[in-house]
Amino acid sequence: MSLTLAFDVYGTLIDTQGVVSQLEAWIGDRASGFSQCWREKQLEYSFRRGLMNEYKNFASCTRDALEYCCQSQAVDLSEAQKQALLACYARLPVFADVKQGLEALQAQGHHLYAFSNGTAEAVDGLLSHAGVRDYFLDIVSVDEIATFKPDPATYRHFLRRSSSKAEQSWLISSNPFDVIGARNFGLQAAWVKRSDGAVFDPWGVEPVVTVSGIPQLAAYLK
Ligand code: LAC
Repeated sequence: MSLTLAFDVYGTLIDTQGVVSQLEAWIGDRASGFSQCWREKQLEYSFRRGLMNEYKNFASCTRDALEYCCQSQAVDLSEAQKQALLACYARLPVFADVKQGLEALQAQGHHLYAFSNGTAEAVDGLLSHAGVRDYFLDIVSVDEIATFKPDPATYRHFLRRSSSKAEQSWLISSNPFDVIGARNFGLQAAWVKRSDGAVFDPWGVEPVVTVSGIPQLAAYLK
């Protein structure tokens, strides 16, 4: 049976830790902690903006989070360095297993979509740069309804945009908050456990399946 697959982008297909090597050149072994702070704060800002009904796009959350982390981590970056980091964010690398996994899923006849907090333009740029844009039928962005995952409205929006039914639609994400949001809404969902140490929130809402990468998902759905 052909399924509709909604792929989360940041952290699932695209490695947000890809800024670390640029950061290392400037702040040495503090780079990894800084990058983690940046990612966590970026997501927190999106959650808070969603709850407050004060939408600004994901790039804006990313920029504000960078400012916050420079202050909280006492990292003094010049304006040019901040711009360079943000430019880096627009060209983050794809995880090594993604291409092979998408190819297999497409060959199995599934309908693949990118479904992201990022704007369609930003996601298009990232996926094109990574050479995987053509696997997707379309890019669905929460920007179209000015709120963020895991607002149930975002998953509803995805179904509408892809003309799909919840029972045949899967959310694929490395972000537990996204998987829980999708399951809570009534979608099928796979958790991509991108590192051994990754922990799934103990909320009593489970993914249908946990996989280590996209090819493993293709094997599961075969
Ligand atoms: C996204 C973030 C949540 O791509 O990773 O939607």
